[in-house]
Amino acid sequence: LRILFVTPEVFPLCKTGGLGDISAALPAALHMLKTDIRLLLPGYPSVLAGLKSKRTIARFELSPHFPPAKLLSARLQISNTSLSLPLYVIRCPELYQREGGIYQDDNGYDWPDNAQRFGLLSKIGALLASDASPLAWMPDVVHCNDWQSGLTPAYLHFHAGKKAASLMTLHNLAFQGNFPPNEVEKLGLPAESFNMYGLEYYGNLSFLKAGIYYADHISTVSPNYAQEIQREPLGFGLQGLLAARSDTMSGIINGIDTAIWNPKIDPYLAKKYSSRSLSAKTVNKLALQQQMGLEQNPAVPLLGVVSRLTYQKGSDMLQQIIPLLIDLPAQLVLLGSGEIELEQQLIALSQTFPTKIAVRIDYDEALSHLITAGADCFLMPSRFEPCGLNQMYSQHYGTPPIVHATGGLVDTVADLTPETLVNKSASGFLFHDMSIDAFMIAIKRAIDTYYDTKLWKKLQRNGMHKDFSWQASATTYRAVYTQLM
Ligand code: ADP
Ligand code: GLC
Repeated sequence: LRILFVTPEVFPLCKTGGLGDISAALPAALHMLKTDIRLLLPGYPSVLAGLKSKRTIARFELSPHFPPAKLLSARLQISNTSLSLPLYVIRCPELYQREGGIYQDDNGYDWPDNAQRFGLLSKIGALLASDASPLAWMPDVVHCNDWQSGLTPAYLHFHAGKKAASLMTLHNLAFQGNFPPNEVEKLGLPAESFNMYGLEYYGNLSFLKAGIYYADHISTVSPNYAQEIQREPLGFGLQGLLAARSDTMSGIINGIDTAIWNPKIDPYLAKKYSSRSLSAKTVNKLALQQQMGLEQNPAVPLLGVVSRLTYQKGSDMLQQIIPLLIDLPAQLVLLGSGEIELEQQLIALSQTFPTKIAVRIDYDEALSHLITAGADCFLMPSRFEPCGLNQMYSQHYGTPPIVHATGGLVDTVADLTPETLVNKSASGFLFHDMSIDAFMIAIKRAIDTYYDTKLWKKLQRNGMHKDFSWQASATTYRAVYTQLM
C-alpha cells in the first residue's frame, strides 16, 4: 500500500496547530502498519533548515502558471523515536522562502500569493500521484489535508492518464482557501470547472470545496464533526455538498502521539509521573505557579489553557469569565497567541488580577507541556472543534478538561454523571449551551469535585487509562485506503 500524504505543516519542522501534530503522528502510525507512506511539504525556511541531508530529485517548469521549483528528497525524523519517514519537499524560494508565518505575515495578514503557494503544493501533489510523475514511485492513494492541498483532487480529475485515488481529510471547515475567480486560469485549471459543480463557491474559487467535490473519499477528524458539518452552522455553507457526499465520508478520530505527550517520559516536566504517582503531579503545579508568577499553593484549583486565541476556540468566553473567577477559589494560567485584540485584552486582565490570572502570549511547546501537567483542570470552550488534541493530552496527564459539547470534544470527553462514574468512563466536564452561565456552572462543578479528593482521583485515573493512541485510527485509515484502491 503506497500513500502520498500531502500537508502544509508537520511537527517539528513547522506547525501552527493540530494538523502539524497529526501530519507526523498519523504517517508514523501507518508506517508501523506496514504502509509505504511518504509526505509532501512546502520548503519554508524552517523546513529547509531543519532537515539534515536532502538532495534534488526532480525539477519542475510548470510555467506559465508557477515559478520554477525543485523537488528535494529527505527524511522526516519522528520526534522521540528512532523512526524516520520519506519526505518530499518543494523548494521554490519565490513562494516559500520568506520571513514570517507559513500562512500569514508577522502582522497576521494572509500572504497575498497564497493561492499560488498552495496551488503549487496541490499541483505537485497531483503530479506525483499520476503517471506524469518524474519519480518511479507512484502512490495508490493521495491523502490530502485541508484547503492547502484541496486542489490536488481537482488537478487529478482533469488528468487523463493513470492516477491515484484521492482522500480529502477535513481538519477545519472554517478555513476554506477562497480566492478571486481570476485565479482559476492562473492556476492552470480549466475555465469550465468554475461552476457550482466544481470549483466555484459563492462566486469565488474555493480550494476546500474543490477537494470536497473532486476527492474520491472524504474524511473528518471525528465522527461527531462529520455529522455536524452536514448542517448549518458548522457546514460553513458547504453543508449541502457534504450531506450529498455523506455515503463517501468517514469520521475518524485523531489519536495523540504518546512518544511526545506522555507524563511518564515528558522532558518538559518538573517531575515525571504516572496514574500511580499522581502526587508527583503537584510538583509540576508548584513549578507552573512559580514560573507564571502566581502564589505557590497546592490547594487552590489551577485552571489551564493552551490555545490559538480565536473565535473558534471561544477565547472571548475565557476573557469574559476571568472577572467571575475572582470570587472563586481558583487560579488561571493561559498560554496562547492569535487575534491581537484578544491578546491585548487578556494581558490587561492579567494585570488587573495579577494574583489569580497569569497570561503568556506566545507559542511555547515547553510551557504547553508544563501547563498540561501542572494545571488541575484544562479549559476548552470551543465554539466548534473538529477534533481537538488538548483535551486528549490533558486527560492523558490526569488533568480533567472542561469542554463545550461540540465536535470531537463530545467523542473524547465523558461528562461526570452517576452513570459515567459507575462505568468508569467519566473523565471531565461538558457544557452544552455556549454561554457564560453554562461555562461557569461547569467550572464550579469541577471545583466542587476537586475538593472531593477521592472522586477527583477517579476522574483523573479514568482519563489517564483511556486509549487515545493512534493504532485504532490508523487501522481505520488503512481500511479506507484499501477500499479506495
Ligand atoms: P487547532 O489545530 O484547532 O489549533 P488542536 O487542539 O487540534 O487545535 O491542536 C492544537 C495544537 O497546537 C496542540 O498541540 C496545542 O498544544 C498547540 N498549541 C496551540 N497554541 C499553542 C501555544 N500558544 N503554544 C504552544 N502550543 C500551542
Ligand atoms: C484543526 C482543528 C482541530 C483538529 C486539528 C487536527 O486544526 O481545529 O480540532 O484537532 O485540525 O485534525
